[in-house]
Amino acid sequence: MDRGESLHELARAAAARAHAPYSGFRVGAVVRLAGGGSHVGCNVENAAFPLSGCAERHALAAAVAATAGRPEIESVTVVALGPDGVEVPAPPCGACRQQIVEFGPAIRVGFMASDGRRIELPVAELLPHPFLPAALR
Ligand code: THU
Repeated sequence: MDRGESLHELARAAAARAHAPYSGFRVGAVVRLAGGGSHVGCNVENAAFPLSGCAERHALAAAVAATAGRPEIESVTVVALGPDGVEVPAPPCGACRQQIVEFGPAIRVGFMASDGRRIELPVAELLPHPFLPAALR
């Protein structure tokens, strides 16, 4: 199994453990650190709908917690499963793109595009002209 396949499998396993009773759209994400090691997250939905959280941002939170707030992130791999357990397209939402790009524009993001093909792109291509911390200085 190559690196891409194992990250895909990790993300898929995280998606299978998601808590998505309202949408039935289960998402898993794996944050891969440059120094090795990876952290997973899944989406968690609540009856108070706006509280629900995305898999990517939960995986980022796990990576931040494990690295004293300084994760050097190489990639984020996303897998979403439909109700039948088959992988479905899941381009990361805008909020997740924003949170990823703040950790580095070169971070590669892998996901199934709407045409059903899996692709991997630098987050800077998914979110051009991002709002970055430098804007606050
Ligand atoms: N979701 C994610 O986990 N990541 C995204 O980038 C987009 C959407 C989740 C949130 C919600 O639980 C479900 O997918 C349907 O929107």
